[in-house]
Amino acid sequence: MAAPRASVHGEWSSSLFFILAATGSAVGLGNLWRFPYLVGDNGGGAFVVIYLLCILLVGLPIMMAEIMIGRRGRHSPINSLRLIARDEGLNPAWQGLGWLGVAAGFMILSFYSVVGGWALYYGFEAFQGGFRGIDTDTAGTLFEGVLASPGLVVLWHSIFLLLLFGIVAAGVRRGLQRAVTLLMPLLFLLLLFLVLYGALTGGFAETLAFMFRPDFSAVDGGTILTALGQAFFTLSLGMGAIMVYGAYLPSRASIPGNTVWIVGMDTLTAIIAGLAIFPVVFSAGMEPAQGPGLVFVTLPVVFGEITLGTLLGMVFFVLLSVAAITSGISLLEPAVAYLTERGPLSRAGAAAIITLAIWLLGIAAGLSLNVWADVRILPFADLGIFDLLEFVSNDIMLPLGGLLIAVFAAWRIRSKTRLVELGMPPDSLRFRLWLLVTRFVAPLAVVLVFMNALGLFG
Ligand code: PHE
Repeated sequence: MAAPRASVHGEWSSSLFFILAATGSAVGLGNLWRFPYLVGDNGGGAFVVIYLLCILLVGLPIMMAEIMIGRRGRHSPINSLRLIARDEGLNPAWQGLGWLGVAAGFMILSFYSVVGGWALYYGFEAFQGGFRGIDTDTAGTLFEGVLASPGLVVLWHSIFLLLLFGIVAAGVRRGLQRAVTLLMPLLFLLLLFLVLYGALTGGFAETLAFMFRPDFSAVDGGTILTALGQAFFTLSLGMGAIMVYGAYLPSRASIPGNTVWIVGMDTLTAIIAGLAIFPVVFSAGMEPAQGPGLVFVTLPVVFGEITLGTLLGMVFFVLLSVAAITSGISLLEPAVAYLTERGPLSRAGAAAIITLAIWLLGIAAGLSLNVWADVRILPFADLGIFDLLEFVSNDIMLPLGGLLIAVFAAWRIRSKTRLVELGMPPDSLRFRLWLLVTRFVAPLAVVLVFMNALGLFG
C-alpha cells in the first residue's frame, strides 16, 4: 500500500479551521436565498421533511465519503481520483468524476456569482438608505429593476468575481480562515435577531404551520428531485468542493466528527433562514411562492421599517455576500488546484484563467434575465440560460457526481483504506451503518429519484 501523501497546497492548521472553511462553503446562498424560496414554491412542510431526509440519508454519508477521498488523495479532485485509482488498481477513468465536478463548478459559479452580485448591490443600496420606508410593492419593483438592467447585473457580477479572484489568487487559507472565523458567527447572530423580529411581528404561527406541517398531497417526482438537488447544493456535495477541502485536512482529524458539525450547522442555518423570512411574508400578506426574488423583496421591507434598519440591512446584505464569497471560493478551488498542480502556471495565473471563463459564462446567465430572456438552448425549450445552468448543475450533475462518489468510496476502494481514513473500528455499528447507507440507500435514492423525474414510473 502506498505511503500517506502530503498535500502540495498545504493543510488547515487544525480541524477547527476545516470545519469553519467547509461550513463557509456549505452555508451560502443555498441556505439564505435558495432554501426559503424552494420551501415557498414547493408547498412548505412536505418539502422540508423530504429535504431533511435527503440530508440525513444521502448528504451526510456522501459528505464523509467525499472528505475521505480528498484526504486520501491529497490533491485536486481530478488528481486525487487518478492517484487513488492507481494505488487501488482501479480504472483510471475514475478521474472523469473529477472533471464532471469541475464542469459543475463552472456552471454553478456562473449563476451563483450573478446572485452574489445582487447581494453586494443590496448591501450598497442599504448603505445609501435605499430601503427606508419601502413597502412590498416598491421592494418588488426595485428587485425587478435590478433584473431588468443588463448593466447593473453584469457590473455587480463582475465585482463579485473579482473579489473571489483576489482571495483565491492570494492563497485562500490565511485570509479565508480569518474571515470565516469572524463573519460566520456574526451572520448567525443576525439571523437569530431576524427570527426574534419575525416572532414579534406576527405571522410566526403561520410560518411554523407552513414549514413544519407537511401536506404530502402536493408532492410529486419533481418536488423530490428538487429536494435532493438542494441537499447536494446546500452541502456543497457532488462536485469536489468538499473533497478538495478534505485534501487539506490534517491526518489526525476525525472525518465522521467533523462531518456531523458541518451538516448540523448548515441545516440549522437553512431552517433559521426560513423562520426569519416567512413571518414577514405572511404578516405583509405576501405569497410565499415568489421564486428567486423572495429574500431580495421581503427583507428590505423589514429593514425599511425598523430602528437601525439602514445599518442592519447593510450588515445583513454584506454578510449574505460574505456567505456567498466563502462558498464561491470553494466552487473555484477544485479547478484552480488542478491547474496549479499541472504547472507551469502559478496559483494566481490559474485563478485568473478560470475566473475569466466563469465570468463570461456568468454574463450569459445575467443577460438571460433581461436582453437574452428569450434565448433557448435546445432541447430545453422552457428554460432560459440562467435557469438551465441552475437546473442541469444542481439537479442533475451534483446528484450524479454524488452517486459516483458513493460508489467509488463504498464499493470500489479497499476496505482497509476506508477504515484507515474514517478511523472507525471495522465491526463498530457506526461503520456498518455508514457502509450500508453509502452502498445501498444513497445510490438507490439518487437512481430512483432520477427515474421518477424522468417519468419512468408513469
Ligand atoms: N453550498 C453552497 C450554498 O449553499 C453552494 C455550493 C455548491 C458551494 C456546491 C460549493 C459547491 O450556497
